[in-house]
Amino acid sequence: MRISNLKKLAIEKVYDRYESDVAPELNQWLKSCIGGTKQIIIKNKKNIQRYEDFFDSLPIISGSVNVKDGTIIFDRSPEKNSDFKQQSSIKNLVNQLIPWRKGPYNVIGVPIESEWNCSLKWDRLASKIPSLENNVIMDVGSGNGYFAWRMREAGARLVVCLEPNFASFIQFHFLNQFADDPKIRFLPMTLEESSKSQYLFDKIFIMGTLYHTKAPFEHIKSATCFLKKGGFLILETLIFKSDECTLFVPKERYARMSNVWQIPSFLAVKSWLIALGFSDIELVSVEITTTAEQRATQHMPFKSLNDGLSQEDDKVTVESYPRPQRGIIVAQRTSDVIGLK
Ligand SMILES: C[S@@+](CC[C@H](N)C(=O)[O-])C[C@H]1O[C@@H](n2cnc3c(N)ncnc32)[C@H](O)[C@@H]1O
Repeated sequence: MRISNLKKLAIEKVYDRYESDVAPELNQWLKSCIGGTKQIIIKNKKNIQRYEDFFDSLPIISGSVNVKDGTIIFDRSPEKNSDFKQQSSIKNLVNQLIPWRKGPYNVIGVPIESEWNCSLKWDRLASKIPSLENNVIMDVGSGNGYFAWRMREAGARLVVCLEPNFASFIQFHFLNQFADDPKIRFLPMTLEESSKSQYLFDKIFIMGTLYHTKAPFEHIKSATCFLKKGGFLILETLIFKSDECTLFVPKERYARMSNVWQIPSFLAVKSWLIALGFSDIELVSVEITTTAEQRATQHMPFKSLNDGLSQEDDKVTVESYPRPQRGIIVAQRTSDVIGLK
């Protein structure tokens, strides 16, 4: 399939593939997000034009996607021989999309070494969450879609990614050119920018966004509306180690990051979730982030975790705050809360 127009990717692939196994309400909601996507495309007109040339230059390959040792592998159909020229053209395209934050991937034999080895996070949560088999899932802050492919591999029927970062949007469509999976829909917007609806998803993943928002309770509340009653929230976040119901608020930067507004303790998150009608709220994993999970690589050659840690004492950040540690919280939406719309 030749893709000559990125707008087609952004719009038609999200909305215009009506499938009988997508509930009408979900399809309706996807359609209702079209206006927002068009606005974003207009706002990014210059970038889109640049990337239309990029997408026009993609080789025509359709194949399969599978996972091996945590790497998502996009492969060609077996009858096609490997082609050195094609590989070096893919290498070149991959390099044009640097920095790769999320991965790892392998595209027709070309490895993409991302800053984050996301397979470690997946390993921490996969055995701790209820089955994704036949589920309809929302992934809030999906990055370039690494976890969406893992969810599909785990049996998800449909994954809707919400991600405002333009580079991630381009990387997703580049990768999906090789898999052409119609069961992953990518909305290039924040959760809060999407149209409102209720009770659409079996599971909602909110991973790595909570501490980037100034209104964490409102952020979870916006997602909760979309969750079916009985559905599960999987919330992954930087977590502040404390037995109190509290927030850690960095004065300016945190591990060099200027967009970390607050880091909640588990009890703070729990109190928000109770207020939103969740029960069975469990902290299923807490891990200190290591440089095996987050580091500079050839495809993300800029500053990373190591540069955010004190050189004298790696238990603290350069600002002398506790080193990043991440928690995974699983909770079930069991009751409706008044005012939640
Ligand atoms: C730290 S990354 C985490 C990516 C991935 N979920 C993971 O766990 O590795 C946070 C991502 O969330 C996106 N993001 C931030 N605020 C968001 C919001 N309100 N709605 C949707 N995505 C958001 C950012 O653009 C970024 O790509």
